[in-house]
Amino acid sequence: MSEAAAAGGAARPEGGALLEVRDLSVDYGPNRAVHHVDLDVPAGPYGVGLIGESGSGKTTIARAVLRLQPVAGGTVRFDGQDVGALRGAALRAYRRSLQIVFQDGDAALDPRLRAGASVGEALRAHGLASRAERPARARALLEQVGLDPDLADRFPHQLSGGQRQRVVIARALAVDPLLVVLDEPTSALDVTVQARILELIRRLRDERGLAYLLISHNLAVVERLCEDAIVLYAGRVVERGPTHRVLAAPAHPYTQALRLSVPELGRPAPARTTVPTAGVSSGRGCPFAPRCPLALDRCRVEMPPLVEIGGGQAVACHRPDDAAALWRTRTAADASPAVPAHR
Ligand SMILES: Nc1ncnc2c1ncn2[C@@H]1O[C@H](COP(=O)(O)OP(=O)(O)O)[C@@H](O)[C@H]1O
Ligand SMILES: [Mg+2]
Repeated sequence: MSEAAAAGGAARPEGGALLEVRDLSVDYGPNRAVHHVDLDVPAGPYGVGLIGESGSGKTTIARAVLRLQPVAGGTVRFDGQDVGALRGAALRAYRRSLQIVFQDGDAALDPRLRAGASVGEALRAHGLASRAERPARARALLEQVGLDPDLADRFPHQLSGGQRQRVVIARALAVDPLLVVLDEPTSALDVTVQARILELIRRLRDERGLAYLLISHNLAVVERLCEDAIVLYAGRVVERGPTHRVLAAPAHPYTQALRLSVPELGRPAPARTTVPTAGVSSGRGCPFAPRCPLALDRCRVEMPPLVEIGGGQAVACHRPDDAAALWRTRTAADASPAVPAHR
């Protein structure tokens, strides 16, 4: 166990999540991008998927959790500690315990640093290896993420997109984090490389007991790697629950639309259905109402609270029963099974 785990584990209340986000709101000037979001990531090995289309606030949540972005309201607790109150050494320890991997490995790596030096730099910044030890440690980390250690001598532009993303992951792991935020880690990569990176995340999770918040717009990716799924629409959580429940019986009309439009990994995409894009939110009412087949007048003026519907699943919808009936109709009319056969 790392020092951070040893120190922080004691502070974390029994049964508490490693990362606890409560009532988080984030503004950009006059615009609210994230509205009252609750989110838990238990200690690893555990994956939580944060799903939502482009612009729904996923990266903003990640940045707020990392304290790269000021919050307008709410709290972030990590390992029992209020992240907003961390200063000095405690803040540095936090920044080591929680690492982020962004979508774009190109932008994340310094073009002037060789791959080994990039990883070594993370070790240096956190005082984890002497100058003499760094090269060997960096090579070992590159090997752990499935790279030929000789690639340590290459510059980013001499690596493929998939190799660069592995270097970014190796650098994140160099500091032995408790939690990794993966912000669309494969969306810049082609499909085969994507699958191999997902495989890598799966393996690292099992080998290192890693917890992660996996940000994606792809339900199939979340299905493969995450116990829990959280669905975001226009900066609000509209549904959350165990991934298998959210995917097999999506309770929110938006999740249903997503579910019907997303191909299974390795299966052809269904021909029909489009996922509505976020309209401009009035700030009142359900943000999905303008696109929702079930919307009533009430939905346009009153935001439904997130309510438990059983089995750990919760949905923010004024018409949960009608939404469940809608899902049955949508899937009964579909020739292919709603639930993949392997489930
Ligand atoms: N630096 C910024 N300044 C102003 N608005 C921003 C900024 N970053 C993101 N936004 C807005 O906040 C919303 C959420 O963006 P983001 O968190 O990047 O979404 P996602 O990661 O889900 O694509 C979007 O409407 C986006 O335009
Ligand atoms: Mg983003």
